[in-house]
Amino acid sequence: MFTELASNIFVLSEPLSFYGLQIGRNMVVVRLPNGELFVNSPASLTEDRIAALNDLGTVRYVTPSSKLHGHLHMKDYKYTFPDAKLFAAPGLDRRRTDLVFDGLLGSTPDERWSDVIDQTAFLGAFWITEIEFFHRPSKTLIIGDICYNLGPKTPLKTRLATQLLGMYGDLSVPLDLRHMMKNEAAARHSIDQILEWDFERVIVGHGSVVEHNPKRRFREAFDWLY
Ligand SMILES: [Fe+2]
Repeated sequence: MFTELASNIFVLSEPLSFYGLQIGRNMVVVRLPNGELFVNSPASLTEDRIAALNDLGTVRYVTPSSKLHGHLHMKDYKYTFPDAKLFAAPGLDRRRTDLVFDGLLGSTPDERWSDVIDQTAFLGAFWITEIEFFHRPSKTLIIGDICYNLGPKTPLKTRLATQLLGMYGDLSVPLDLRHMMKNEAAARHSIDQILEWDFERVIVGHGSVVEHNPKRRFREAFDWLY
């Protein structure tokens, strides 16, 4: 059910339709050195998934990527795993007043996972600030919506649409986010910060995992900002 991409990092993909296009979504689980699980962009829960998570470790920290991405099922995680702690991305605490958050995500990694996971806030976009994570032991960058990677594994309609939009087959920034990037200098600074991480893999929120030339491809996705 969960694919182990490297030691202690797992991904689970599930279908997601966005404006009629199947773009899918990815949940990431990192097993921390003490056996606790750090969950990013949690997927919907089923009995099978609950059992699979319990096999991996103890669900402890549940994080979204932004106030838009990865928060939909957080309440179910708190209900199913009462000892889990929920974290808010900037602005999510105001959107999801039905949730009780144990912490707010920012540019500084929380000490509860900072031994193995670094993080930063992607600045420069009007209205939304996404949190990006870097799992140091597996050299994996974990992002939400700042880049999609939709290619040949997607259905025909999605392939056609992404070809028309110039987003097919590689890391690319969705058009709505491009339009929101009002402070380009701040965005470039965030990109530079991310590129300081020694990543060899990118897990996107939507699309296939990138394992070939990830740094170059991530940088090139933002060529329009330079
Ligand atoms: Fe998303």
